[in-house]
Amino acid sequence: MRDQDQRDKHTRYWDATAWVSPSADGLAEAKAEEAIAEAAQVLAGGGTVAFPTETVYGLGGDARSTEAVENIFKAKGRPSDNPLIVHIAEESQLAELVTEVNDTARRLMAEFWPGPLTLVLPVRPGAVSPRVTAGLSTVGVRMPDHAVALRLIAAAGCPVAAPSANRSGRPSPTLASHVGEDLDGAIDGIVDGGPTGVGLESTVVECGADGMVTVLRPGGITVEELARVAASVQLDPALESGGGGEAPARPKAPGMKYTHYAPSGSLRIVMGASQEAVAARIQAELDAANARGEVTGILAFEEHLAKYHGAHTMLSLGSLAAPETAAQRLYAALRQFDEAGATYMLAEACPEEGLGAAVMNRLLKAAGHEVIYV
Ligand code: TXA
Ligand code: MG
Repeated sequence: MRDQDQRDKHTRYWDATAWVSPSADGLAEAKAEEAIAEAAQVLAGGGTVAFPTETVYGLGGDARSTEAVENIFKAKGRPSDNPLIVHIAEESQLAELVTEVNDTARRLMAEFWPGPLTLVLPVRPGAVSPRVTAGLSTVGVRMPDHAVALRLIAAAGCPVAAPSANRSGRPSPTLASHVGEDLDGAIDGIVDGGPTGVGLESTVVECGADGMVTVLRPGGITVEELARVAASVQLDPALESGGGGEAPARPKAPGMKYTHYAPSGSLRIVMGASQEAVAARIQAELDAANARGEVTGILAFEEHLAKYHGAHTMLSLGSLAAPETAAQRLYAALRQFDEAGATYMLAEACPEEGLGAAVMNRLLKAAGHEVIYV
């Protein structure tokens, strides 16, 4: 059951965009610094503050405070069995949180931190509120690669538990205004640091003592990048059971079992080996949907947009050659469809290579695995 959507707080808003803007002058930077210091005080006092990271906006609270962590779950309407990622600003904070970091984990940290990689490690008993780990013996830890996030966490002086700053089930926020849409009145503050970089969440991994890295959630660090550093990399088998047929295996990242990011209307992905066949099928489905009186949407790659006619809302994922653009745009596009009142949407697929794997993981979830193969 979802908690009630309570919006009885006054949400403060801090502008820290100058902190990440290369053209900001000294005065603007000083104001941004002050804004971050104020937000850090609210965090340190047990409040809930949304902040930018290089992946998506997070909703932070002191990971040691059960009250703060409960307020995060309440604001998001998040199921309590889904653990939170703990964010740190310096590697020295890690020893307080976990009991052991094996060689593989150390190598990944050295290569990818700060950055969009979350390591699931054995939690030190009592280091964080039991609500953070949802009863697991492990904790997910990451060091975000974002100047505002690092400054805020360091100034707060505590490990910061932070799930994505959306209402549970909604697309993750890539702009401060997305956070406001979902959580204004439900949290203590929002630090605006402009648009996030990657646009999809961090990769969550577990590192075995045997050197095996298991990807529990694909994300900003690709499997190919991990494989350059680790002896072997595998996907959690539950990620590959696409939905149909047998009951899927239980994912190791509890969050992966929930429907996510889904727009209010119905979204279908069309895929196939021939781009002509895909485009023809999308146009045919679009025509049929328009004839039924649906409010339609198309989500396609730049190269193919001109092939489609008659959609109410047409959104571009950027060039097929640049999956990082698709990653940056995906969540905002799903929100735009909702704003446009779209009832029926069709999306193109991209190759599951590099960041394309994470894009397709999120797109499939958003579509509830409704795929038309041609
Ligand atoms: O990029 C990100 O990771 C963003 C930003 C804000 O840092 N955070 C984020 O958090 O995506 P959230 O809560 O939306 O997703 C966390 C995922 C969930 O799928 C959760 O189940 C998994 O990480 N997770 C957290 N702790 C875990 C643990 N101890 N074992 C396995 N999975 C864990
Ligand atoms: Mg999330």
